Amino acid sequence: MATAKAHTNIALVKYWGKKDPKLILPQTDSLSLTLNEFYTTTTVNFKSELDADHVSIDGQLIDKADAKKVIHVLELVRSMSGINSFAEVTSTNHVPTAAGLASSASAFAALAGAASVAAGLHLSRRDLSKLARRGSGSATRSIYGGLVEWQKGVDDASSFAKPIAEDVAFPIEMLAVLINTKKKKVSSRSGMQLSVSTSPYYEAWKKVVARDMTAIKAAIKAKDIDKIGHIAEENALRMHALTLSADPGFTYFNGETLAIIKTVEDLRSHGINCYYTMDAGPNVKVIYDRANRDKIVARLADIIGYDRLVVSQPGPGIKIWNE
Ligand code: ADP
Ligand code: DP6
Ligand code: CO
Repeated sequence: MATAKAHTNIALVKYWGKKDPKLILPQTDSLSLTLNEFYTTTTVNFKSELDADHVSIDGQLIDKADAKKVIHVLELVRSMSGINSFAEVTSTNHVPTAAGLASSASAFAALAGAASVAAGLHLSRRDLSKLARRGSGSATRSIYGGLVEWQKGVDDASSFAKPIAEDVAFPIEMLAVLINTKKKKVSSRSGMQLSVSTSPYYEAWKKVVARDMTAIKAAIKAKDIDKIGHIAEENALRMHALTLSADPGFTYFNGETLAIIKTVEDLRSHGINCYYTMDAGPNVKVIYDRANRDKIVARLADIIGYDRLVVSQPGPGIKIWNE
């Protein structure tokens, strides 16, 4: 029996499409910031008396479709370790589930960590990153803290994350604006698949990401928060252009998403630098230098209320312990 705690991460250069949906090999590289405020804790117990895998999230037994992804990871761990018992998986999300706040990233990183140690495996962090990837692409990056790159690779062995700066030595901060924390209608998995197969702009997106990866790594090296924020904002808009241009077209934005975007632009035009990014959900994350925090929080609170704002520092990598 083992427990793991993994934090979510928010991509600054997004992963939005698979080359190999079975192995979860992405079409592009991506780069993220792990967040201190949001995480998942998962305990895995392989028990010989069980006749099936039992999976619960936040005290609720989960439905078959959701359990399928968890069972897939458990199957991989069973074949790697030689264990053939079923497992009891108990998970708690300290992040809204399936709302575009990256619950699948922290969830599958924590699952990979807890299941592998519970099965007696001692995987390197690189191998853990690959195992997490098999559950959810974004989980590949949640093994590490701080700024993390997922190199797309060409096969299972070469597609894993690498830390760029686990301790971020400059004052970047990310504020989550909780617009709607209910379960999204279009999962990340199906939304990105539809974008790959139907958006006429998909080939252009691959070029955008290649360029953004080079630029953002230079900006990180230069500790240039404005440049990092600007690249992240453009990249997010272009990712969301893939949903609008899919067939059928769709969007994760709602009216409040647009209102927050406008507020960020307005703050910026008044000399308070900050930048936005959105994932597969309506919630906005704002990127800025900590020195600007109070002004940004005050302005956003006027619009949406303090209780829907979560300020987060960069967060740590995965922790795993035997019970
Ligand atoms: P998000 O934006 O939250 O990452 P996704 O659509 O990518 O949304 O993933 C949400 C799905 O991830 C859930 O429907 C569920 O299948 C899975 N998930 C989320 N949290 C957990 C957890 N703690 N344990 C197992 N699976 C989880
Ligand atoms: C917009 O990793 O949740 O958050 O691999 O199908 O589980 P699956 O999808 P997921 O997609 C994340 C999409 C994103 C961008 C990102 O995190 O890079
Ligand atoms: Co996800």
